[in-house]
Amino acid sequence: MPNKITAATLLQMKQNGEKISQVTCYDYSTARIIDSAGINTVLVGDSLGMTMQGYENTLPVTIDEMIIYGRSVVRGCRNAFVIMDMPFMSYQISPQQALESAGRLIKETNAHAVKLEGGASVTGQIKAITDAGIPVCAHIGMTPQSVNAFGGFKVQGKGEENARRVLEDALSVQEAGAFMVVLECVPPKLAALITSKTSMITIGIGAGAGCDGQVLVYQDMLGMSGDFTPKFVKRFADIGSAMENAFREYDSEVRSGAFPAPENTYAKSDCSDEFLARLNEEY
Ligand code: KIV
Repeated sequence: MPNKITAATLLQMKQNGEKISQVTCYDYSTARIIDSAGINTVLVGDSLGMTMQGYENTLPVTIDEMIIYGRSVVRGCRNAFVIMDMPFMSYQISPQQALESAGRLIKETNAHAVKLEGGASVTGQIKAITDAGIPVCAHIGMTPQSVNAFGGFKVQGKGEENARRVLEDALSVQEAGAFMVVLECVPPKLAALITSKTSMITIGIGAGAGCDGQVLVYQDMLGMSGDFTPKFVKRFADIGSAMENAFREYDSEVRSGAFPAPENTYAKSDCSDEFLARLNEEY
């Protein structure tokens, strides 16, 4: 029975103290599985630049690419609330640019909200987008689009000054209208403090159990992203190895002729042996 999740449902979950699940997704088949599993929200993250396109960071991803992936995810979700990430340089220039980009992402994918990175520096953008009726998820702490400024993917909010800055970023994005905020690689006590201080839904990734919800990149949690696994990831399955074994078996059966077996063919639809013999002679 479909039970569509909205921003209001998610805010009610926070108020009831119910934890919120979120995973990234970039394609239709995986979206169907995630949605059937009852995951509350799906993030079409610009992490697709790394997980789907093989870049070393998220910076090259374009808005047109986000739209292609996003549409497929939306078609696979019956109930989950779908959030579209705004890629690098699709919103940083001005609130006007941010509104135009957010408008495209929603209009052309039919998703339910957008996410953008940054705290106090992007409040004008968040206000412009929310004023247009589009729910915004902010993203503070370790913001991957600033990887070059951070000098790598590093924990943020360490030390008193940085902790204060991350808390102030959270309060700024809330004031600007964000209904949800991703806290990435933020120390757990600070993340729990932010969660208690804000009416926004906090979604943690590497931010401890004190957030309102959690997000993981699905390839990381399913063992599909190679040997490196960040400390905050838990592997819930080893689908990568299962896939590799299946492809090896297929390769070996194709080579040996074991596949396709009679049960994998349409033998009943074949013409009579006499007819095929005549065809053989004719050509
Ligand atoms: O792009 C992404 O997948 C993200 C999550 C890691 C929060 O921003």
